[in-house]
Amino acid sequence: MIEGPGSIIIESNASHLALKGAEIFSTTARESVDARGRFAVAISGGSTPRGLHRLLAKDPFLSDVPWDKTDIFWVDERCVPSNDEASNYGEAKKDFLNRVPIPPGHIHPMPAAKPPEAGSLLYQKEIMSYFKAERNKSFLFDLIVLGIGTDGHTASLFPGQSSLDEKEKWVVSVKGGEPNLIRLTLTYPVLNRGRHIVFLASGKKKAHIVGKALKDNESRLPAQRIQPVRGKLLWLLDREAASLLKG
Ligand code: 6PG
Repeated sequence: MIEGPGSIIIESNASHLALKGAEIFSTTARESVDARGRFAVAISGGSTPRGLHRLLAKDPFLSDVPWDKTDIFWVDERCVPSNDEASNYGEAKKDFLNRVPIPPGHIHPMPAAKPPEAGSLLYQKEIMSYFKAERNKSFLFDLIVLGIGTDGHTASLFPGQSSLDEKEKWVVSVKGGEPNLIRLTLTYPVLNRGRHIVFLASGKKKAHIVGKALKDNESRLPAQRIQPVRGKLLWLLDREAASLLKG
């Protein structure tokens, strides 16, 4: 592991990255339940976490994760029906949520079918009420899994948008990304209060932006504004995504 602006773990390829990600998910879940009686995780969409998600529905993770004490939230969501391929919730259901023994009430999809403003408010209420007295604490989610886009966005926090400057709201609606859709996204005030924040990046196409995010302090990418208040930041990369980090 390399120590820097967060730690960096480099795996040989996308399958090893998925396996390491699933191990981190499972270990963090067990540690959180031992320490606080529950595990609250916020997951991302996009293609990179899908290998990790699929592993969670298989042993040893199927048996090792304390699913009955796990609550799943989303970092962001595209405002499409849940049976649309662009739905982060819909894909996560297919990849693992339909196949693990998690109580249905522990799955907290973003309300993508509501008008975006109302949906953001509703989700903010839901996470605030989940974290109750912990509202002003340094730590909210036990684990947040993030991706990074080739433009440096993370969650649905896109370069140049006002959502990057949000200081109060925990959830906002935005338009952008690929696919270019209206989306709901968590904001820095909640993301930066994660206990463990893990970026996943895989493949050559991410090498340039990963290099920039980790080595160029001037570039002010949305992903670089993930700076945990007191939590730990980890970049979990495969060799291709990490290929421009040396030197
Ligand atoms: C989303 C995401 C987004 C994603 C990155 C990387 O729902 O669009 O949460 O932030 O993580 O765009 O996406 P890939 O993993 O597909 O490269």
